[in-house]
Amino acid sequence: MEGVVQLINRLQGVATLVGDNAASDKSLPGLWELLPSIVVIGGQSSGKSSVLEAVVGKDFLPRGTGIVTRRPLNLQLVNNKESEDEFGVFLHRPNEKFVSYDAMRAEIEAETERLLRTEGKAVSPKPIQLTVTSPHVPNLTLVDMPGLTKIPIDGQPKSIVRELEDMARTYIKGDNAIILAVTPANADLATSDALHLAREVDPAGDRTIGVLTKLDIMDPGTSAREILDGTSIKLKHGWIGVVNRGQKDIVNRMDMYEARRKEMGFFKSNPAYADLKNIGTGFLSSKLSTQLIGAIRRQLPNIQNAINGNIIALEKEIESLGGPGAYSRGAMVHLVLTLCRQFEEAFSRAVDGGKGGG
Ligand code: GDP
Ligand code: NA
Ligand code: MG
Repeated sequence: MEGVVQLINRLQGVATLVGDNAASDKSLPGLWELLPSIVVIGGQSSGKSSVLEAVVGKDFLPRGTGIVTRRPLNLQLVNNKESEDEFGVFLHRPNEKFVSYDAMRAEIEAETERLLRTEGKAVSPKPIQLTVTSPHVPNLTLVDMPGLTKIPIDGQPKSIVRELEDMARTYIKGDNAIILAVTPANADLATSDALHLAREVDPAGDRTIGVLTKLDIMDPGTSAREILDGTSIKLKHGWIGVVNRGQKDIVNRMDMYEARRKEMGFFKSNPAYADLKNIGTGFLSSKLSTQLIGAIRRQLPNIQNAINGNIIALEKEIESLGGPGAYSRGAMVHLVLTLCRQFEEAFSRAVDGGKGGG
Protein backbone atom coordinates (compact mmCIF):
# COMPACT_ATOMS: atom_id res chain seq x y z
CA MET A 1 0.00 0.00 0.00
CA GLU A 2 3.11 2.25 -0.07
CA GLY A 3 2.05 4.50 -2.96
CA VAL A 4 -1.37 5.22 -1.55
CA VAL A 5 0.04 5.70 1.91
CA GLN A 6 2.33 8.43 0.60
CA LEU A 7 -0.55 10.16 -1.17
CA ILE A 8 -2.73 10.14 1.90
CA ASN A 9 0.16 11.42 3.99
CA ARG A 10 0.67 14.28 1.59
CA LEU A 11 -2.99 15.16 1.64
CA GLN A 12 -2.92 15.10 5.40
CA GLY A 13 0.06 17.39 5.31
CA VAL A 14 -2.15 19.90 3.50
CA ALA A 15 -4.92 19.32 6.04
CA THR A 16 -2.61 19.98 8.97
CA LEU A 17 -1.17 23.06 7.31
CA VAL A 18 -4.51 24.59 6.59
CA GLY A 19 -5.40 23.77 10.15
CA ASP A 20 -8.10 21.15 10.09
CA ASN A 21 -9.40 22.35 13.41
CA ALA A 22 -7.88 25.79 13.44
CA ALA A 23 -10.79 27.62 11.89
CA SER A 24 -13.52 28.39 14.37
CA ASP A 25 -16.20 27.84 11.72
CA LYS A 26 -17.28 24.36 12.78
CA SER A 27 -19.88 24.11 10.01
CA LEU A 28 -17.04 23.22 7.64
CA PRO A 29 -16.21 19.55 7.34
CA GLY A 30 -12.91 18.61 8.91
CA LEU A 31 -10.52 17.15 6.39
CA TRP A 32 -10.13 14.01 8.50
CA GLU A 33 -13.81 13.37 7.84
CA LEU A 34 -13.28 13.61 4.09
CA LEU A 35 -10.44 11.14 4.06
CA PRO A 36 -11.25 7.49 3.50
CA SER A 37 -11.94 5.15 6.35
CA ILE A 38 -12.18 1.38 6.35
CA VAL A 39 -15.06 -0.08 8.33
CA VAL A 40 -15.49 -3.80 9.07
CA ILE A 41 -19.01 -5.08 9.53
CA GLY A 42 -20.32 -8.59 9.96
CA GLY A 43 -22.00 -11.03 12.28
CA GLN A 44 -20.68 -11.97 15.68
CA SER A 45 -17.43 -13.93 15.56
CA SER A 46 -17.36 -13.71 11.77
CA GLY A 47 -13.71 -12.66 12.03
CA LYS A 48 -13.96 -8.84 11.78
CA SER A 49 -11.24 -8.05 14.30
CA SER A 50 -9.01 -10.74 12.82
CA VAL A 51 -9.39 -9.26 9.31
CA LEU A 52 -8.62 -5.75 10.51
CA GLU A 53 -5.52 -6.92 12.34
CA ALA A 54 -4.32 -8.82 9.30
CA VAL A 55 -4.71 -5.71 7.13
CA VAL A 56 -2.78 -3.55 9.60
CA GLY A 57 -0.25 -6.31 10.28
CA LYS A 58 -0.32 -5.80 14.06
CA ASP A 59 -1.76 -7.79 16.94
CA PHE A 60 -3.64 -5.38 19.09
CA LEU A 61 -7.34 -6.08 18.89
CA PRO A 62 -9.25 -8.19 21.37
CA ARG A 63 -10.68 -11.15 19.50
CA GLY A 64 -12.09 -14.55 20.35
CA THR A 65 -15.27 -16.57 20.54
CA GLY A 66 -18.49 -14.78 21.50
CA ILE A 67 -19.01 -11.03 21.51
CA VAL A 68 -15.55 -9.73 22.23
CA THR A 69 -15.83 -6.36 20.51
CA ARG A 70 -18.54 -4.61 22.49
CA ARG A 71 -17.92 -1.01 21.52
CA PRO A 72 -16.79 0.41 18.18
CA LEU A 73 -13.06 1.04 18.06
CA ASN A 74 -12.14 4.10 16.09
CA LEU A 75 -8.52 3.54 15.23
CA GLN A 76 -6.56 6.38 13.74
CA LEU A 77 -3.25 5.30 12.30
CA VAL A 78 -0.76 8.14 12.05
CA ASN A 79 2.38 7.74 10.02
CA ASN A 80 5.47 9.39 11.48
CA LYS A 81 8.67 8.77 9.56
CA GLU A 82 10.66 11.08 11.86
CA SER A 83 10.98 8.54 14.63
CA GLU A 84 11.14 4.79 15.15
CA ASP A 85 8.81 5.18 18.15
CA GLU A 86 5.59 3.23 17.95
CA PHE A 87 2.89 4.04 20.47
CA GLY A 88 -0.83 4.35 21.06
CA VAL A 89 -2.77 7.09 22.84
CA PHE A 90 -6.40 6.71 23.89
CA LEU A 91 -8.76 9.67 23.87
CA HIS A 92 -9.94 8.67 27.35
CA ARG A 93 -6.34 8.63 28.67
CA PRO A 94 -4.73 11.45 26.71
CA ASN A 95 -1.58 11.73 28.82
CA GLU A 96 -0.42 8.15 28.55
CA LYS A 97 1.62 6.46 25.84
CA PHE A 98 1.00 2.75 25.32
CA VAL A 99 4.15 1.31 23.82
CA SER A 100 3.15 -2.32 23.38
CA TYR A 101 0.30 -3.74 21.35
CA ASP A 102 -0.48 -6.13 24.20
CA ALA A 103 -0.96 -3.16 26.52
CA MET A 104 -3.23 -1.44 23.97
CA ARG A 105 -5.36 -4.56 23.69
CA ALA A 106 -5.61 -4.82 27.48
CA GLU A 107 -6.69 -1.17 27.69
CA ILE A 108 -9.34 -1.63 24.98
CA GLU A 109 -10.72 -4.50 27.04
CA ALA A 110 -10.57 -2.59 30.32
CA GLU A 111 -12.21 0.54 28.91
CA THR A 112 -14.92 -1.55 27.25
CA GLU A 113 -15.66 -3.25 30.59
CA ARG A 114 -15.62 0.02 32.50
CA LEU A 115 -18.25 1.74 30.37
CA LEU A 116 -20.50 -1.28 30.01
CA ARG A 117 -20.50 -1.83 33.78
CA THR A 118 -21.41 1.84 34.31
CA GLU A 119 -24.15 1.73 31.68
CA GLY A 120 -25.35 -1.74 32.66
CA LYS A 121 -25.25 -2.82 29.01
CA ALA A 122 -23.83 -5.70 26.99
CA VAL A 123 -22.91 -3.51 24.04
CA SER A 124 -22.56 0.24 23.58
CA PRO A 125 -22.41 2.48 20.50
CA LYS A 126 -19.96 4.79 22.26
CA PRO A 127 -16.65 4.39 20.44
CA ILE A 128 -13.23 3.95 21.95
CA GLN A 129 -10.76 6.24 20.22
CA LEU A 130 -7.20 5.06 19.76
CA THR A 131 -4.46 6.82 17.82
CA VAL A 132 -1.48 4.71 16.88
CA THR A 133 1.61 6.61 15.75
CA SER A 134 4.30 4.64 13.98
CA PRO A 135 6.69 4.85 11.03
CA HIS A 136 5.20 1.55 9.80
CA VAL A 137 1.50 2.42 9.42
CA PRO A 138 -0.39 4.38 6.78
CA ASN A 139 -2.41 7.46 7.70
CA LEU A 140 -5.75 5.81 7.84
CA THR A 141 -8.89 5.50 9.91
CA LEU A 142 -10.10 2.00 10.64
CA VAL A 143 -13.25 1.12 12.50
CA ASP A 144 -13.79 -2.20 14.25
CA MET A 145 -17.43 -2.86 15.05
CA PRO A 146 -19.36 -5.08 17.43
CA GLY A 147 -21.00 -7.91 15.54
CA LEU A 148 -24.45 -7.67 14.05
CA THR A 149 -27.01 -10.07 15.41
CA LYS A 150 -30.56 -11.13 14.68
CA ILE A 151 -31.27 -12.32 18.20
CA PRO A 152 -30.73 -10.30 21.40
CA ILE A 153 -27.75 -11.60 23.35
CA ASP A 154 -27.11 -12.03 27.06
CA GLY A 155 -30.72 -11.32 28.03
CA GLN A 156 -30.54 -7.83 26.53
CA PRO A 157 -33.68 -6.02 25.39
CA LYS A 158 -34.77 -6.57 21.80
CA SER A 159 -33.76 -3.00 20.99
CA ILE A 160 -30.11 -4.08 21.06
CA VAL A 161 -30.49 -5.73 17.65
CA ARG A 162 -31.65 -2.45 16.15
CA GLU A 163 -29.05 -0.50 18.06
CA LEU A 164 -26.19 -2.58 16.68
CA GLU A 165 -27.51 -2.19 13.17
CA ASP A 166 -27.98 1.57 13.50
CA MET A 167 -24.49 1.83 14.91
CA ALA A 168 -23.01 0.01 11.92
CA ARG A 169 -25.11 2.05 9.49
CA THR A 170 -23.78 5.32 10.92
CA TYR A 171 -20.22 4.24 10.22
CA ILE A 172 -20.73 2.91 6.70
CA LYS A 173 -23.20 5.37 5.20
CA GLY A 174 -20.60 8.05 4.38
CA ASP A 175 -19.32 8.13 0.82
CA ASN A 176 -15.74 7.83 1.99
CA ALA A 177 -16.24 4.65 4.01
CA ILE A 178 -14.87 1.53 2.42
CA ILE A 179 -16.94 -1.35 3.68
CA LEU A 180 -15.36 -4.68 4.47
CA ALA A 181 -18.37 -6.98 4.63
CA VAL A 182 -17.05 -9.95 6.59
CA THR A 183 -18.85 -13.27 6.28
CA PRO A 184 -17.67 -16.66 7.50
CA ALA A 185 -17.51 -19.32 4.80
CA ASN A 186 -18.91 -21.90 7.20
CA ALA A 187 -22.27 -20.09 7.37
CA ASP A 188 -24.98 -19.34 4.84
CA LEU A 189 -23.97 -16.38 2.72
CA ALA A 190 -27.55 -15.59 1.75
CA THR A 191 -28.29 -14.65 5.35
CA SER A 192 -25.17 -12.54 5.78
CA ASP A 193 -26.02 -9.50 7.91
CA ALA A 194 -22.98 -7.71 6.58
CA LEU A 195 -24.05 -8.15 2.99
CA HIS A 196 -27.59 -6.94 3.67
CA LEU A 197 -26.43 -3.79 5.39
CA ALA A 198 -23.73 -3.06 2.83
CA ARG A 199 -26.27 -3.38 0.02
CA GLU A 200 -28.61 -1.01 1.80
CA VAL A 201 -26.10 1.85 1.99
CA ASP A 202 -24.13 0.99 -1.15
CA PRO A 203 -26.59 -0.68 -3.55
CA ALA A 204 -24.22 -0.54 -6.54
CA GLY A 205 -21.43 -2.12 -4.50
CA ASP A 206 -18.99 0.65 -5.41
CA ARG A 207 -17.29 0.72 -2.03
CA THR A 208 -18.01 -2.72 -0.68
CA ILE A 209 -15.49 -5.54 -0.52
CA GLY A 210 -16.74 -8.97 0.47
CA VAL A 211 -14.38 -10.85 2.74
CA LEU A 212 -14.94 -14.55 3.19
CA THR A 213 -13.29 -15.86 6.36
CA LYS A 214 -12.84 -19.30 7.91
CA LEU A 215 -12.35 -21.15 4.64
CA ASP A 216 -10.19 -23.57 6.63
CA ILE A 217 -13.05 -24.81 8.79
CA MET A 218 -15.75 -25.48 6.25
CA ASP A 219 -17.45 -28.88 6.29
CA PRO A 220 -15.26 -31.54 4.70
CA GLY A 221 -16.06 -31.97 1.02
CA THR A 222 -17.47 -28.44 0.62
CA SER A 223 -15.72 -25.35 -0.73
CA ALA A 224 -16.44 -21.69 -1.31
CA ARG A 225 -15.29 -21.88 -4.90
CA GLU A 226 -18.60 -20.70 -6.36
CA ILE A 227 -18.70 -17.64 -4.16
CA LEU A 228 -15.09 -16.72 -4.91
CA ASP A 229 -15.72 -17.32 -8.61
CA GLY A 230 -18.59 -14.84 -8.41
CA THR A 231 -21.03 -17.36 -9.80
CA SER A 232 -23.31 -17.55 -6.77
CA ILE A 233 -23.58 -14.22 -4.95
CA LYS A 234 -22.36 -11.31 -7.01
CA LEU A 235 -20.56 -8.27 -5.70
CA LYS A 236 -19.13 -5.56 -7.95
CA HIS A 237 -15.64 -5.90 -6.45
CA GLY A 238 -16.03 -9.57 -5.75
CA TRP A 239 -15.22 -11.69 -2.75
CA ILE A 240 -11.82 -12.24 -1.25
CA GLY A 241 -11.11 -15.43 0.65
CA VAL A 242 -8.88 -15.28 3.74
CA VAL A 243 -7.72 -17.59 6.50
CA ASN A 244 -6.94 -16.09 9.86
CA ARG A 245 -5.89 -17.57 13.16
CA GLY A 246 -8.33 -19.93 14.81
CA GLN A 247 -9.13 -19.82 18.50
CA LYS A 248 -6.45 -22.44 19.18
CA ASP A 249 -3.83 -20.36 17.34
CA ILE A 250 -4.78 -17.36 19.48
CA VAL A 251 -4.45 -19.38 22.67
CA ASN A 252 -1.05 -20.61 21.44
CA ARG A 253 -0.08 -17.00 20.66
CA MET A 254 0.68 -17.66 17.01
CA ASP A 255 2.23 -14.47 15.63
CA MET A 256 1.16 -12.54 12.53
CA TYR A 257 4.04 -13.84 10.46
CA GLU A 258 3.17 -17.45 11.21
CA ALA A 259 -0.51 -16.68 10.56
CA ARG A 260 0.27 -15.46 7.04
CA ARG A 261 2.38 -18.56 6.39
CA LYS A 262 -0.45 -20.74 7.54
CA GLU A 263 -2.84 -18.88 5.24
CA MET A 264 -0.58 -19.25 2.21
CA GLY A 265 0.00 -22.90 3.00
CA PHE A 266 -3.72 -23.51 3.14
CA PHE A 267 -4.44 -21.93 -0.24
CA LYS A 268 -1.46 -23.50 -2.00
CA SER A 269 -2.33 -26.99 -0.88
CA ASN A 270 -6.04 -26.74 -1.60
CA PRO A 271 -7.00 -27.66 -5.18
CA ALA A 272 -10.33 -25.78 -4.88
CA TYR A 273 -8.50 -22.45 -4.49
CA ALA A 274 -4.90 -22.86 -5.67
CA ASP A 275 -5.55 -21.25 -9.08
CA LEU A 276 -7.60 -18.29 -7.80
CA LYS A 277 -6.28 -14.73 -7.61
CA ASN A 278 -8.76 -13.33 -5.13
CA ILE A 279 -7.42 -15.15 -2.11
CA GLY A 280 -5.25 -14.18 0.82
CA THR A 281 -4.57 -11.15 2.98
CA GLY A 282 -2.00 -9.83 0.49
CA PHE A 283 -4.65 -9.63 -2.20
CA LEU A 284 -7.06 -7.98 0.23
CA SER A 285 -4.47 -5.28 0.97
CA SER A 286 -3.90 -4.49 -2.69
CA LYS A 287 -7.65 -4.39 -3.29
CA LEU A 288 -7.95 -1.93 -0.43
CA SER A 289 -5.29 0.26 -2.02
CA THR A 290 -7.32 0.47 -5.21
CA GLN A 291 -10.41 1.29 -3.18
CA LEU A 292 -8.58 3.99 -1.25
CA ILE A 293 -7.53 5.65 -4.50
CA GLY A 294 -11.14 5.56 -5.69
CA ALA A 295 -12.37 7.03 -2.42
CA ILE A 296 -9.87 9.89 -2.59
CA ARG A 297 -10.76 10.56 -6.22
CA ARG A 298 -14.45 10.80 -5.33
CA GLN A 299 -13.65 13.17 -2.49
CA LEU A 300 -11.23 15.45 -4.35
CA PRO A 301 -13.81 18.17 -5.15
CA ASN A 302 -15.03 18.14 -1.54
CA ILE A 303 -11.50 18.22 -0.24
CA GLN A 304 -10.75 21.25 -2.43
CA ASN A 305 -13.89 22.97 -1.18
CA ALA A 306 -13.03 22.23 2.42
CA ILE A 307 -9.54 23.61 1.95
CA ASN A 308 -10.84 26.77 0.28
CA GLY A 309 -13.48 27.13 2.98
CA ASN A 310 -10.87 26.74 5.65
CA ILE A 311 -8.68 29.39 4.04
CA ILE A 312 -11.55 31.88 3.97
CA ALA A 313 -12.47 31.10 7.57
CA LEU A 314 -8.87 31.46 8.67
CA GLU A 315 -8.57 34.78 6.85
CA LYS A 316 -11.62 36.07 8.70
CA GLU A 317 -10.16 34.87 11.94
CA ILE A 318 -6.87 36.59 11.23
CA GLU A 319 -8.68 39.81 10.38
CA SER A 320 -10.69 39.64 13.56
CA LEU A 321 -7.45 39.21 15.49
CA GLY A 322 -6.04 42.37 13.95
CA GLY A 323 -4.49 41.40 10.65
CA PRO A 324 -1.90 38.93 9.45
CA GLY A 325 0.89 37.82 11.72
CA ALA A 326 3.67 35.47 10.70
CA TYR A 327 2.01 34.41 7.44
CA SER A 328 0.64 37.02 5.11
CA ARG A 329 -2.63 36.19 3.45
CA GLY A 330 -0.97 35.87 0.07
CA ALA A 331 1.82 33.65 1.37
CA MET A 332 -0.65 31.34 3.07
CA VAL A 333 -2.86 30.95 0.03
CA HIS A 334 0.16 30.41 -2.18
CA LEU A 335 1.52 27.72 0.11
CA VAL A 336 -1.76 25.86 0.27
CA LEU A 337 -2.38 26.01 -3.46
CA THR A 338 1.13 24.76 -4.13
CA LEU A 339 0.57 21.81 -1.84
CA CYS A 340 -2.78 21.07 -3.43
CA ARG A 341 -1.27 21.11 -6.89
CA GLN A 342 1.57 18.86 -5.80
CA PHE A 343 -0.92 16.48 -4.32
CA GLU A 344 -3.03 16.36 -7.44
CA GLU A 345 0.01 15.79 -9.61
CA ALA A 346 1.20 12.96 -7.40
CA PHE A 347 -2.27 11.54 -7.34
CA SER A 348 -2.58 11.59 -11.14
CA ARG A 349 0.83 9.99 -11.50
CA ALA A 350 -0.05 7.21 -9.13
CA VAL A 351 -3.45 6.56 -10.62
CA ASP A 352 -2.94 7.15 -14.34
CA GLY A 353 0.81 6.71 -14.67
CA GLY A 354 2.25 3.25 -15.14
CA LYS A 355 1.93 1.85 -11.68
CA GLY A 356 1.76 -1.89 -11.26
CA GLY A 357 -0.98 -2.34 -8.72
CA GLY A 358 -0.97 -1.77 -4.96
P1 GDP B 1 -15.30 -10.82 15.39
O1 GDP B 1 -16.16 -11.15 16.56
O2 GDP B 1 -16.09 -10.76 14.12
O3 GDP B 1 -14.44 -9.64 15.59
O4 GDP B 1 -14.35 -12.09 15.17
P2 GDP B 1 -12.90 -12.38 15.79
O5 GDP B 1 -11.86 -11.80 14.90
O6 GDP B 1 -12.90 -12.03 17.22
O7 GDP B 1 -12.85 -13.98 15.58
C1 GDP B 1 -13.80 -14.80 16.17
C2 GDP B 1 -13.23 -16.19 16.33
O8 GDP B 1 -13.08 -16.78 15.05
C3 GDP B 1 -11.85 -16.23 16.97
O9 GDP B 1 -11.78 -17.36 17.80
C4 GDP B 1 -10.90 -16.38 15.82
O10 GDP B 1 -9.74 -17.07 16.17
C5 GDP B 1 -11.73 -17.19 14.85
N1 GDP B 1 -11.40 -16.93 13.44
C6 GDP B 1 -11.43 -15.75 12.78
N2 GDP B 1 -11.09 -15.90 11.48
C7 GDP B 1 -10.81 -17.23 11.32
C8 GDP B 1 -10.39 -18.04 10.20
O11 GDP B 1 -10.20 -17.55 9.05
N3 GDP B 1 -10.21 -19.37 10.44
C9 GDP B 1 -10.41 -19.94 11.66
N4 GDP B 1 -10.21 -21.25 11.80
N5 GDP B 1 -10.83 -19.21 12.73
C10 GDP B 1 -11.01 -17.88 12.56
NA1 NA C 1 -15.78 -12.44 18.46
MG1 MG D 1 -14.39 -8.20 17.02
